[in-house]
Amino acid sequence: MAEATHNFPTDFLWGTATAAHQVEGNNTNNDWWLWESEGQESSAQRVFRNQISGPACEWWSGRGEEDIQRMRDLHTNAHRMSIEWSRIELEPGKWDHGALDRYREILKAMRAAGIEPMVTLHHFTNPIWLAEKGGWLNPEVVDHFRRFVEKAVGDLSDLCDVWCTINEPNVYASQSYFLGKWPPAHSSIFEYFQVSYHLMLAHAAAYEVIHDVQPQAKVGFANNMVAFYPRGARSPFDRAIANLVDRAFNRLTLDTITTGVFNPPVGSKINIPQARNTLDWIGLNYYTRNDAFFNLRLLHKLGIDYGPRENYPRGPEGWGEIYPDGLFHMIKRLYRQFKLPIYITENGVPDEHDTTRPAFLLRHLRRVWSAVSFNWPVKGYYFWSLLDNFEWAEGYDPRFRFGLYTVDFATQERTLTRSGELYQEIASTGSISSDMARRYAPELLNEMFPGKGPDDLYGI
Ligand code: FCB
Repeated sequence: MAEATHNFPTDFLWGTATAAHQVEGNNTNNDWWLWESEGQESSAQRVFRNQISGPACEWWSGRGEEDIQRMRDLHTNAHRMSIEWSRIELEPGKWDHGALDRYREILKAMRAAGIEPMVTLHHFTNPIWLAEKGGWLNPEVVDHFRRFVEKAVGDLSDLCDVWCTINEPNVYASQSYFLGKWPPAHSSIFEYFQVSYHLMLAHAAAYEVIHDVQPQAKVGFANNMVAFYPRGARSPFDRAIANLVDRAFNRLTLDTITTGVFNPPVGSKINIPQARNTLDWIGLNYYTRNDAFFNLRLLHKLGIDYGPRENYPRGPEGWGEIYPDGLFHMIKRLYRQFKLPIYITENGVPDEHDTTRPAFLLRHLRRVWSAVSFNWPVKGYYFWSLLDNFEWAEGYDPRFRFGLYTVDFATQERTLTRSGELYQEIASTGSISSDMARRYAPELLNEMFPGKGPDDLYGI
């Protein structure tokens, strides 16, 4: 094997990512809190073992700052966090200035630690008052979101330059309105498209209003992209489903921004000229590859079915395949389509005992490095996540721990993992190397750094 070091550009952003509801604790005014609390009295297991987010990682009550010191210890220079709409806007147009001040404190602490913040304005949760008005099915949501964004960005613009309007519109619309797993737990393909349409209008409105209040701001959104492959490579049905999910899930939002036309695979096209070119950068959340296939029993869902490929490396049950090449392919697609700066706004793996995560990190960063070497404009990488947190329907299921730091939720004690140590080396040197692979994931040496080393040569 060969000795090698792959260097990233000196201005590359090495980051971590979190979201408000998953770390703050006691977000009592949002639809998730309601959903979790009601779930405790139902047999439905909305969340793993009917857990509630509860105090989460206690960022709100003060531990945010502690964890910012941990970012510093990791030698990272960027962090992606989100702000919670339901804390800031208690009722339509009624603002909680104390909440905005708390976000100011957190952002100031980040800046003081040399961490460049990226702030997401919608990360899956909604104020209960909005949910009661029909949430994202109601076209009025767009004006509500615009008003919230104008206020929040107006107040925080001196502390943040990079805004992510909406996290994973495709995941939110599918989990909440198509798969029925998250509130409001609807299961309709038509609602999936309707909500996606409103999310695009809301993104466009936010893009405009952010630039009005902060002209130099850099605005984008985070698109989750799954590498979909037809299960039966020769089956026309499976191929059709793979194409369909790729279009409906990966491309719908992206194509709307390129063309100014919202064009769902079922239903009619709608012009949204105001959405055209509303990106200063594009965010990629990449986790997994799925086989897509036609399932006769799911005709009410257009026969769409998908799941992890058999006999390939995968995460825990309920998670997908680990497939680093997919990250490279998605970066390539985004580069071709947009020619804009790309941030990997999320990438990570649930790994209770931190056994596969070091190799995951090196293999995925190797693909990012390849992309950078082609001069594709990948500007930063935000690992999901800094620390274990409340993983939505998986709650605090230990199998769904994503953190570079583990959290003992009984004591709030944090412990740096091996992958945290590795990320620290990566972020502080701005590189990945065969030496790191040897120490953290020796099984990768031949895959990542093939070639003949001096020892091998003696045998010639
Ligand atoms: C993403 C979400 C994030 C977290 C990770 C594991 O889809 O944006 O909040 O749940 O998955």
